[in-house]
Amino acid sequence: MISLTLFIILLCFLFYSGHGLVSISVTPIIVSKSGDPVTIHWTGIDSPSQLDWLGIYSPSNSSHHNFIGYIFLSTSAGWESGSGSVSLPIVNIRSKYQFRIFHWTESEVDPTRMDSDHNPLPGTKHLLVESKEIGFSPGRGPEQVHLALTGREGEMRVMFVTHDGKENSVRFGLNRNKMGQIVGTRVSRYEREDMCDSPANESIGWRDPGYIHDGVMINLKKAKTYYYQVGSDSGGWSDIFSYISPNLDSDETIAFMLGDMGTATPYKTFARTQDESTSTIKWIKRDIESIGNKPTLISHVGDISYARGYSWLWDNFFTQIEPIASRVPYHVCIGNHEYDWPMQPWKPDWSSLSYKKDGGGECGVPYSVRFNMPGNSSEPTGTRAPATRNLYYSFDMGVVHFVYLSTETIFLPGSKQYEFLKHDLESVDRKKTPFVVVQGHRPMYTTGCRNRDVELRERLVEHLEPLLVKNKVSLVLWGHYHKYERFCGISNFTCGEEFPVHVVIGMAGQDSQPAWDTRVDHPDDQVFPQPEQSLYRSAEFGYTRLVASREKLRLFYVGNHDGEVHDAVEIRAPVYKLFHSCHPSVQPTICFQLQRIRHCPPFPPPPPPPSSDHDDDVEIDPRYGVDKRLVPSGPNPLHN
Ligand SMILES: *[C@@H]1O[C@H](CO)[C@@H](O)[C@H](O)[C@H]1NC(C)=O
Ligand SMILES: *[C@@H]1O[C@H](CO)[C@@H](O)[C@H](O)[C@H]1NC(C)=O
Ligand SMILES: *[C@@H]1O[C@H](CO)[C@@H](O)[C@H](O)[C@H]1NC(C)=O
Ligand SMILES: *[C@@H]1O[C@H](CO)[C@@H](O)[C@H](O)[C@H]1NC(C)=O
Ligand SMILES: [Fe+2]
Repeated sequence: MISLTLFIILLCFLFYSGHGLVSISVTPIIVSKSGDPVTIHWTGIDSPSQLDWLGIYSPSNSSHHNFIGYIFLSTSAGWESGSGSVSLPIVNIRSKYQFRIFHWTESEVDPTRMDSDHNPLPGTKHLLVESKEIGFSPGRGPEQVHLALTGREGEMRVMFVTHDGKENSVRFGLNRNKMGQIVGTRVSRYEREDMCDSPANESIGWRDPGYIHDGVMINLKKAKTYYYQVGSDSGGWSDIFSYISPNLDSDETIAFMLGDMGTATPYKTFARTQDESTSTIKWIKRDIESIGNKPTLISHVGDISYARGYSWLWDNFFTQIEPIASRVPYHVCIGNHEYDWPMQPWKPDWSSLSYKKDGGGECGVPYSVRFNMPGNSSEPTGTRAPATRNLYYSFDMGVVHFVYLSTETIFLPGSKQYEFLKHDLESVDRKKTPFVVVQGHRPMYTTGCRNRDVELRERLVEHLEPLLVKNKVSLVLWGHYHKYERFCGISNFTCGEEFPVHVVIGMAGQDSQPAWDTRVDHPDDQVFPQPEQSLYRSAEFGYTRLVASREKLRLFYVGNHDGEVHDAVEIRAPVYKLFHSCHPSVQPTICFQLQRIRHCPPFPPPPPPPSSDHDDDVEIDPRYGVDKRLVPSGPNPLHN
């Protein structure tokens, strides 16, 4: 009787799927830690299509449309035989995973269901097989560990994530085998209802973010190697990490500065992800190892994870940066992709093109809860969500006073942010910190072609630049344009040795790159002749390394393709600035040809905005000269 029932069930299955008995296996079933790989094998697909796909689901009971990512089976060698395997690292998002295989053919492509790259989302009509549930072994301790300075002497903040929010501590000390000091953590989290819009507040994007812990290690001696570990006896302890404690009096400052990095996923998902972030982190890790026992800092000037409402991409990001962020404080500015949404509290009429919905409905909530930067800046959200924080702040580190700004919230005269900046810059002790470095996301200067922010840039030049010039800011770093571009010392579009040097450093990972400004008389010509104020520009991925002594501050542009320096600027304390560019074929890392900057003619007038309403998503890929409609990672059979 039982075997007859089984037989009938089997028959129904065969009839229904039309694909024989497909089987799937996953090893291991219990993954020991975030980022470890699982291998998925399948066999028995009768008539394989090159669009058949493997869906990655977490929680394991998510509905078919709500995958976190997918991989085409045709990426596995020999897929035509109906069998194959893929191996991929998975990140602990505190729910079980399941893998499902679907049959899908070109005739079933639905042009109305597209991802953010305008590639069709895979069809879920024909489920062939689903795997067992895959979980993470319990008791491994917290994850996503990252450090930050508090702005106070002798302190280091550490933040991390647990699945249950139970009491956790930070053990730390100068001896790896005897971390005798202990501090508790504060716990916070955010809810789906705190999100403002889709996809962040919908089942497609929302996943439980876990509990975010925040502890501060105190009474640290200067510039020592400290060991630490986070966790609890019941939930387990993390690996032992170490960092070099801050030294406010140091005569040297080293920092890594970058923007728009994002995160790499081993699968395609609804939004474009950033494969190149892997190289950026690899080279920074190399640099941190090579500088040895000196304190340093990482500064990410906005557009951080590019999660844009797809919650697990934040988990992916923090897992990816842990090898560097658990060793070096990781500081951030808010970018449009952390915040932007149609109902945001501050949205003047001139900004209607700048402020849209780039945040995917997150409206700054994950940014505000997952990081805790120095200071106490916040703006109410006007919703039930917690206030937006980490907006503007500053701290000293060695010979540099670092300032972080928000281009996403109000900065006009009279605003809290404006008053903060004015007061902050006016009270810097230049004997203590001869250099002042200001950072924000949307640039004041760029020759990148994105007319959307023209009015915002005009406001930055009109209102904030006078503060930077008057207070002799040394260097101003921006992101948002996914390129490196170094300007002369500049004030109101005019070069001058005494003015702040502006550099756009948004080249750390996101690859959607608008063209350089087009020629006014040849709108189809992508490359505008480089204005003389723009001293060096490159679309190559990379990051910058800041090295400052009491006498001079140098910023180096490191390219990801070779990990070498491709440009550098040297700024003397307090007013003299010397510039040089390195051509890799001439001098690989050290350049001797220093050149005093001459006066540059003013910028040509900005080109008139294009008459057609350019959608920000339609961007030209300068490497290929075509519309940027490529898939995030790996080959997509539909878009070669
Ligand atoms: C998945 O399971 C959880 C816990 O049992 C439940 O709360 C949730 O509604 C389920 N989701 C779906 C899509 O069935
Ligand atoms: C998400 O937010 C949008 C905009 O506020 C709202 O219209 C929609 O109903 C929300 N969705 C859910 C599931 O709450
Ligand atoms: C930070 O600011 C908020 C609101 O402006 C205020 O309630 C809070 O007490 C401040 N906290 C500190 C530590 O200054
Ligand atoms: C910048 O230059 C323009 C044109 O030369 C001038 O109208 C404007 O007032 C200047 N802005 C500032 C802040 O000096
Ligand atoms: Fe941006």
